[in-house]
Amino acid sequence: MPVGEAANACKSSPQAAVFQITYRCNYNCAFCLNEMRADQTNNTRQASFDGQKRIITKLAVAGVKKLVISGGEPMIDQHCADIIIFAAAQGLQVSLQTNGFFINDDFLWQVRGKIAFIQVSLEGTKAEHELVTHTPHFDRIITNMKKVIAAGIPLSTNFTITKQNHRCLQDYIRLVHDLGVSFANFTRLYHSGSADNNRHSLELSKEEMACFLKDIEAAQRQAAIPLVLAGPMPLCFLASHDVWLSHVNTCGAGKDEINIQPNGGVTMCPSDHAVVGNLLHESLEDIWNRQAFARIRERRDTHPDCKTCELFSLCGGGCLVSHGKGACKGCDVYMVRERVIS
Ligand SMILES: C[S@@+](CC[C@H](N)C(=O)[O-])C[C@H]1O[C@@H](n2cnc3c(N)ncnc32)[C@H](O)[C@@H]1O
Ligand code: SF4
Ligand code: SF4
Repeated sequence: MPVGEAANACKSSPQAAVFQITYRCNYNCAFCLNEMRADQTNNTRQASFDGQKRIITKLAVAGVKKLVISGGEPMIDQHCADIIIFAAAQGLQVSLQTNGFFINDDFLWQVRGKIAFIQVSLEGTKAEHELVTHTPHFDRIITNMKKVIAAGIPLSTNFTITKQNHRCLQDYIRLVHDLGVSFANFTRLYHSGSADNNRHSLELSKEEMACFLKDIEAAQRQAAIPLVLAGPMPLCFLASHDVWLSHVNTCGAGKDEINIQPNGGVTMCPSDHAVVGNLLHESLEDIWNRQAFARIRERRDTHPDCKTCELFSLCGGGCLVSHGKGACKGCDVYMVRERVIS
């Protein structure tokens, strides 16, 4: 396969979609990718329940297989359980991303058997979680996570890697293991929303990131559950630091994944706010085939050093919203310029 072909490969429709059903949130995390949380105009433009169902129906008809219900905090929406039930009835494999605050037995009872798994954002052990989320809710979140397990619903976690929590990895892995989570995700900071403004105090340096990933590599040898590097990381960075992880994701934005905003707007991913179309008024096929998506799919704005890299077909250049500036425009900030692979 020629270099670049897999990175540019396009399915006739996206296989997975994130649906941010609301931008509202009860938290105000400094690292949050969602820059529209505080925008009341956008908040009020959320689709009605009927509109949400129309959006989901269009996704299912177009061939989307997996639907992630997210936000903002999706459980703030009074229809959250009904949306999950409706999406499952359309044949979609549904999961939920939540901060865990509103989980209760009634909700779990409603979605049991309809949802593939619930992902709770757990940003560390008690001190780190409360520091990162600016909340005093760690104990409540742990109690609610235990309810998910007790309801027989698979539970996963997400940990956004920042300067505030990267040193608690060993204790964190013990915690999620003891809780009984099915897998634990680790996501590098995306340059979006509040995270972009607070980047310099939050983002790990290359050296810190290399140490963190080495620690994950060591931990995965003993861990009974998969430790997943969920956010895309340049493969040259992993290779140059000799990091070998069993579970690594690359970026699917525009290739087989899309994001739906609360008002039906379609973007390449939750961290990108360039709207390509609107599912309330247009078909997914029309939106998916627009030039704006072709540009993303073909990674036209990626730096030439990446495009000529022998790993580009696998890597795709890392995270499209986490690029450097000036001469590094189009390069992931963790890209390693030297050719470390031959
Ligand atoms: C945007 S939140 C929405 C769902 C819910 N409110 C929550 O916190 O889980 C979805 C996931 O994105 C992660 N996240 C938020 N901001 C991020 C950023 N700047 N970079 C990487 N991941 C981020 C959160 O930790 C969470 O797991
Ligand atoms: S990461 Fe989730 S919980 Fe935190 S502010 Fe963003 S949407 Fe809310
Ligand atoms: S040079 Fe670019 S495409 Fe190649 S491995 Fe690094 S980030 Fe990925």
